[in-house]
Amino acid sequence: MKSKMKKIGVVLIIALVVMQFIRPDRTYVAVDTQTDFLSVTQAPENIAAIVKKNCYDCHSDQTAYPWYTNVAPLSFWINHHIEEGKEHLNFSNWTKYPAKKAAHKLEEFFEEVEEGKMPLESYTYLHGSLSETDKSTLLTWVQSIR
Ligand code: HEC
Repeated sequence: MKSKMKKIGVVLIIALVVMQFIRPDRTYVAVDTQTDFLSVTQAPENIAAIVKKNCYDCHSDQTAYPWYTNVAPLSFWINHHIEEGKEHLNFSNWTKYPAKKAAHKLEEFFEEVEEGKMPLESYTYLHGSLSETDKSTLLTWVQSIR
């Protein structure tokens, strides 16, 4: 029994080590001020800071990858959120949305933040949540550009 447990332990360790060689695809593109949401809306600096800190990791091509995002299997899970986040909303390609769609995204932006659904809860464990002050500053601004 004891030796069986040991074998399982060894297999698990090998699996974890091998996993580290599987690197999820990553895109990091320099900010294109012609298409970037914060650039084209001429967001004031304080707003840009809030949005970059709380949203851009999952909703832009400027994802910052701290060391733990390299550790599999956590890296697979994080990458999935980023891919999914960008699929729904990519601030780097803001001007590529037709006007009606962009207006709808802004509406969603307001709602998701107001209801506390964004940033995703799992993200806030390590990054901290959006403070109440930042939240209301952000909502007031989004309302002003709608
Ligand atoms: C950890 C990654 C992550 C972070 C950080 C994050 N989001 Fe998201 N976001 C997602 C994912 C995944 C989805 C799609 C699934 C869902 O709605 O839960 C999404 C969906 C959305 C949608 C819905 C888009 C649509 O039209 O379907 C909006 C709007 C949005 N996020 C805005 C924001 C804003 C604003 C912030 C910052 C305050 C933010 N998100 C932070 C991952 C993230």
